[in-house]
Amino acid sequence: MTPSRFTSKLVGQRVLLVGGTGGVGVSVAQATIEHGATVIISSSREHKVKDVCAALVKDYPEAKDRVSGHACDLASPDVEANIEELFNNIGEVDHIVCMAGDRLPMIPLEEITLEKWQKCNQVRTIASILVAKIGIRYMKKDRHSSITLTGGSISEKPIAGGWSMLALIGAGLNGLARQLAFDLAPIRVNAVAPGVIETDLWQGMGEESKKAFFAEHETKIPTGKVGQPEDLAEAYLYCLKDLNATGIVVHSNSGTFLV
Ligand SMILES: NC(=O)c1ccc[n+]([C@@H]2O[C@H](COP(=O)([O-])OP(=O)(O)OC[C@H]3O[C@@H](n4cnc5c(N)ncnc54)[C@H](OP(=O)(O)O)[C@@H]3O)[C@@H](O)[C@H]2O)c1
Repeated sequence: MTPSRFTSKLVGQRVLLVGGTGGVGVSVAQATIEHGATVIISSSREHKVKDVCAALVKDYPEAKDRVSGHACDLASPDVEANIEELFNNIGEVDHIVCMAGDRLPMIPLEEITLEKWQKCNQVRTIASILVAKIGIRYMKKDRHSSITLTGGSISEKPIAGGWSMLALIGAGLNGLARQLAFDLAPIRVNAVAPGVIETDLWQGMGEESKKAFFAEHETKIPTGKVGQPEDLAEAYLYCLKDLNATGIVVHSNSGTFLV
């Protein structure tokens, strides 16, 4: 029989996917299920969590006992209580992947206000810290456990057009991953920094503008193709599987840093 030293590393492990109903989340769920893990999907909308779990079970009927979901709204003022309730419901986990992101807050500098900045921070940064703070109570303290945050290539590669809040958030998440890797050791903490990935995150632009933005981007990036969620899922798998990786940022961005 062919050995499966590498593809069996996640067998039997419990992986919580916060923001697991989105484009990236579904791909990470598929990848971790294919690697034998049990996935728990979470996002703010109960019906979306149910639909994604049902679609995963349809795709992977043999994994029906390894897929479950719980809604948890990270944009609410009750965010901390919501996260406590989420972990109360799901119990112990081996890995936490934070991928929740609400609508892209692309706002020109002159229109930024304290209120917009605070709102924009909640789901991506404030919730990530709170998920880590509460989640570690449900994790074994060893290097098999991991937390993966999601920033973005914008932290290192500026783009024209109202990206300053997201650049700060992305850079902050990279710093947070390093600090938590230090504070929570031996639990491993890393960040994934995606470039432009084709998901519903861009839906707010409208279909035509999105197509034009992607087409223009593809004329510049070395791979000539906007990243697909299944490409990016490999970066998360790496963070989960490499027991020697902590405090790092894994980039998957079509080579955008080269242009
Ligand atoms: N796609 C890209 O080009 C790109 C580039 C760089 C970074 N990223 C980052 O990658 C992550 C995943 O993005 P994606 O492309 O998969 O986006 P997506 O398809 O829009 O998915 C976003 C996920 O976040 C969840 N979410 C939104 N508001 C939430 C809330 N209040 N509480 C809990 N969950 C919430 C969504 O579910 P509900 O709406 O049902 O809550 C969904 O599961 C995000 O953090 C994003 O900023 C993406």
